[in-house]
Amino acid sequence: MRRKVTKAIFPVAGQGTRFLPATKSVPKEIMTLVDRPLIQYAIDEARAAGIKEFIFVTSRGKYALEDYFDVAPELEASLRKRGKTELLETLKSTNMESGAIAYIRQHKALGLGHAVWCARRLITNEPFAVILPDDVIAAEKPCLQQMVEAYAETGGSMVATMEVPPEKASSYGIIDVKEDMGSMVSVKGMVEKPQPGSAPSNLAVIGRYILTPKVLQNLNRIKTGAGGEVQLTDAIADEIEADRDVYGFRFRGQRFDCGSKAGFLQATVAFGLSRPDLRDEFSDYLSGMAAQRNAAQ
Ligand code: UTP
Repeated sequence: MRRKVTKAIFPVAGQGTRFLPATKSVPKEIMTLVDRPLIQYAIDEARAAGIKEFIFVTSRGKYALEDYFDVAPELEASLRKRGKTELLETLKSTNMESGAIAYIRQHKALGLGHAVWCARRLITNEPFAVILPDDVIAAEKPCLQQMVEAYAETGGSMVATMEVPPEKASSYGIIDVKEDMGSMVSVKGMVEKPQPGSAPSNLAVIGRYILTPKVLQNLNRIKTGAGGEVQLTDAIADEIEADRDVYGFRFRGQRFDCGSKAGFLQATVAFGLSRPDLRDEFSDYLSGMAAQRNAAQ
C-alpha cells in the first residue's frame, strides 16, 4: 500500500514585492479574494485532499497569518449573543485543530526550494504536498484532491501543470515531456525559467506538488539556480537524474496567478461572479462598465 499524503507545506515566506506597498504590513496570503484570504482557499483545498497536518514556512512580519488561524473567543461570543449563527459558523470553519498547524521560519528569502527545505524535520519518510497559496485554482474537484487520487495510482513525484503561451514560458518551470498520456505526462527533464525560445514544451509547473521525501535530500545538496534562488524545480529534476518517476498532472480547473496584480483582479471577478449572493449585482455592474467603455471608444 502506498502511504497516504497527510502533510502539506505552505511556503509563505516570500516578500510579495509585486504587491507593495500593501505587503509592507499585510502578508500576501492574507489578501482577500471576495471575503476570504488567499490562505483559506489553500487550506480548504488541502483539507478536501485529506491533509491533516499543515506546515507553514513563514518569515518576519507574518503575524497576521498566525493570528488568522487562532480562535477568536471574544468575536465568537459577540456573534453568539447577537444570534449571528451563520457568521459564527463561517468563523469557526477557519479554526484549526490544536497541533494540526506548525510554523517554521525561513530566515532569508533564498527561494522556494530553500523554503521547502526549511520544513524538512517535520516530514519523516513519507510523501508530502506543497501548496503555493498565491496560485488559486477554481475547480469542481479541488486540484490537490485530483492529484492525490492520481498519485495513488502512480507514486513517484507529481507536479501540477498547465499549458502556457510560448512568450510566458520564461516565467515558469517548464516540463520536458517523455511521454504524453493525456491527463498525465511522464517527465524527462525540468527547466526553471528557460531563456526565451529555449523552453522544451509549453507545459508549465504551477503551485501544487506531491513529492517524495527524497526531494528534501536533494535539496540538501542544491545550490542556487535561476534568479540566484534555490529552486524546487531543480530538486525535482534531480529525481529524474536518479531514475525515479516524475509526473506532470494536467488538472481540471482554472488557475489564477494571485501573486500578480492582473491575476488577482481576474480571480476577484471570477470568484465574485461565482457567488450566488453577489452574482446578479456584480454582473450588472460589469456589463454596465463594459458598455460604457465600448461607447467611449
Ligand atoms: P514568488 O515567486 O511569488 O515570490 O514566490 P514572492 O516573494 O512571494 O512575491 P514577489 O515575486 O516578490 O511579488 C512563490 C511562493 O514561494 C514562496 C512565496 O511566499 C510564494 O508562496 N517563497 C518564495 C518562500 O516561501 N520563500 C522564498 O524564499 C521565496
